[in-house]
Amino acid sequence: MELSTFAADKLQHYRLLTSLIAPRPIALVSTVDAAGRGNLAPFSFFMMGGGNPLSLAFSPLNNRRGDEKQTLRNIEATGEFVVNVVTRAMAERVNQASGDYADDVDEFDVAPFTREPSARVRPSRVAESPAALECRLFQVVRHGAGAQAANYIIGEVVHVRVHDEALRADGLFDTAGQGLVGRMGRDEWVEVVPGAVFDLARPVIG
Ligand SMILES: Cc1cc2nc3c(=O)[nH]c(=O)nc-3n(C[C@H](O)[C@H](O)[C@H](O)COP(=O)(O)O)c2cc1C
Repeated sequence: MELSTFAADKLQHYRLLTSLIAPRPIALVSTVDAAGRGNLAPFSFFMMGGGNPLSLAFSPLNNRRGDEKQTLRNIEATGEFVVNVVTRAMAERVNQASGDYADDVDEFDVAPFTREPSARVRPSRVAESPAALECRLFQVVRHGAGAQAANYIIGEVVHVRVHDEALRADGLFDTAGQGLVGRMGRDEWVEVVPGAVFDLARPVIG
């Protein structure tokens, strides 16, 4: 199959890309608005950025009406957000938090999840998540206009919290053992289970 990206059916092309750029990790992003009211929403257009400084990026698209999502508006208003990692035990509540709620609804209450104070930023961490990354906004890069246009939020990671039981002896996160989940195409999700994980040492050249 070959498709011109200039053909008319934009939604089908969008869905095609989500089915082939997969699996994608999920950032469950906590923010507050200028008045301090909370908001929580998942984003799978999400990646690590770099290590110096520690950075990450994710993209809340414009919604179907062409409006910017609350997560983007809150981050531009406050400059802060928290990325919580998502496990299988959290998946149904994360999905619930993705509903198109009014701005004055805090998805911590509807999901529901437990608020835990952050160390360096105002938005709460999700207590049920085994790890949280507290971030400050570096830059928003807008690409396109109207419905589904991208808004890349680039953040610097200023504080990391990992639950003790999710840490391995090497001081790193227990990535294989925590039941992390990701998004694929359609309504498909994927869970990391120990039997699916394999190691490969990087090649040593010369
Ligand atoms: C697992 C999952 C991943 C999602 N990833 C994205 C994404 O990367 N970008 C996006 O714009 N919406 C994504 N959504 C939809 C948003 O979560 C949804 O639009 C949400 O209502 C946005 O909330 P907000 O308006 O409070 O920011 C995702 C939904 C789910 C369930």
